[in-house]
Amino acid sequence: MDKIRIVGGKPLEGTVRISGAKNASLPDVCAALLTDEPIVLDNVPEVRDIRTMGRVLSQLGCDVAFRTGGSVELRAGTLNSVEATYDLVKTMRASVLVLGPLLAREGRARVSLPGGCAIGARPIDLHLTALEKMGAEVSVERGYVEARAPRLRGAEIHFNTVTVTGTENIMMAATRADGVTVLHNAACEPEVSDLADMLTAMGAQIEGAGTPTIRITGVDRLKGARHRVIPDRIETGTYVVACAVAGGDIEVQQCHPEHLRSTIEKLRETGIRIEEGPNNLRVRAPRQIKAADVTTLPHPGFPTDMQAQYMVLMSQANGACRVTESIFENRFMHVAELQRMGADVRVDGRTAFVRGPSALSGAQVMATDLRASACLVLAGLAAEGETIVDRVYHLDRGYYRIDEKLRGLGADIERLET
Ligand code: EPZ
Repeated sequence: MDKIRIVGGKPLEGTVRISGAKNASLPDVCAALLTDEPIVLDNVPEVRDIRTMGRVLSQLGCDVAFRTGGSVELRAGTLNSVEATYDLVKTMRASVLVLGPLLAREGRARVSLPGGCAIGARPIDLHLTALEKMGAEVSVERGYVEARAPRLRGAEIHFNTVTVTGTENIMMAATRADGVTVLHNAACEPEVSDLADMLTAMGAQIEGAGTPTIRITGVDRLKGARHRVIPDRIETGTYVVACAVAGGDIEVQQCHPEHLRSTIEKLRETGIRIEEGPNNLRVRAPRQIKAADVTTLPHPGFPTDMQAQYMVLMSQANGACRVTESIFENRFMHVAELQRMGADVRVDGRTAFVRGPSALSGAQVMATDLRASACLVLAGLAAEGETIVDRVYHLDRGYYRIDEKLRGLGADIERLET
């Protein structure tokens, strides 16, 4: 199991290129199931979760070919299975995104329930009740969702809670349903809009993606298409914070500043100097970081996937602040590791009280989930001495070669293959 070794205290200089968005690529790949014609996706990040989704689709009978340079060619000509098995779903809960497309295309699906994960229980009840509203018979047997619907029909869906993959799953199902589906309180994340753009290129009729109300008029068939995936806004935010905690002056290229508006505004509030271009950011670390409260919210609010990285920043800030996690009930797993490095953080329920600046010292730390592992790498950049981050397989799920990209910016970082 690989580890990452970081020696902190080196300011960052130069340019870093952002990869395609993991959380847009995952549903985009699943959308290929909605047609028997060829699909090509460009700017897909070569991260482990995408490979896992490729295996889920191959298991169904879809042809999947990863090309160098970040393109993926897919063709779901004829499927020989409608089952997403536990062994794959347990490694990546986003596999549940095959449920809607399979039901819409084949009229049935058998998908393992994802189960809980490090950051929360994460049920999929909203996905299932929405499919039932569209006429599907849904049952859960022996840890699997069994769903059947000769033809889904359009429906009015009200999500009690904003759900990103729930919105994506039902939007995909509705593209081939009989009639009109309206999603209320839908997720507005840029990844949802990216999926809608891809589905529209395939011939789907979708209005309002990116707003809380999405209207989908079902069609009988969808066709093949080529689609370029949007840049990863969370990876972008991660490098901005890396520069702030390590010091330095960097340029972040191939990003989309508009997609992380609230993040940029919050980071500016802490004193980070951020100049925007159409698809790049110039970032200069502040002499002093200011403490500022934050609450994670659905888009366009501050993303929960930036919470752990933001906490490292606040551990280096002058003053005290509150970091409130409103999306997931257990997303402070990184706190104990940060405390081991010397951070002053106290958790009370969904709020962490952070006091800074703390002089972090390098240590051996353990990653627990994707964003927690990014947070520990950032802490390692700010810490005095050597940090060893264990279980970096979490990191590789969603960050493309983060160690190489940071080394390209002058960080003293290397991967230890063990
Ligand atoms: C997506 O997860 C992202 N994953 C997550 O990114 C991200 O943290 C999350 O959205 C929130 O922004 C992908 O896009 C693959 P939700 P998702 O459904 O869709 C509750 C990362 O680090 N809920 O929007 O699974 C749920 O428990 C990952 O890249 C229900 O109660 O999240 C949570 O509290 C981590 N019932 C809230 O809603 C449901 O049926 C939001 O979850 C569905 C969700």
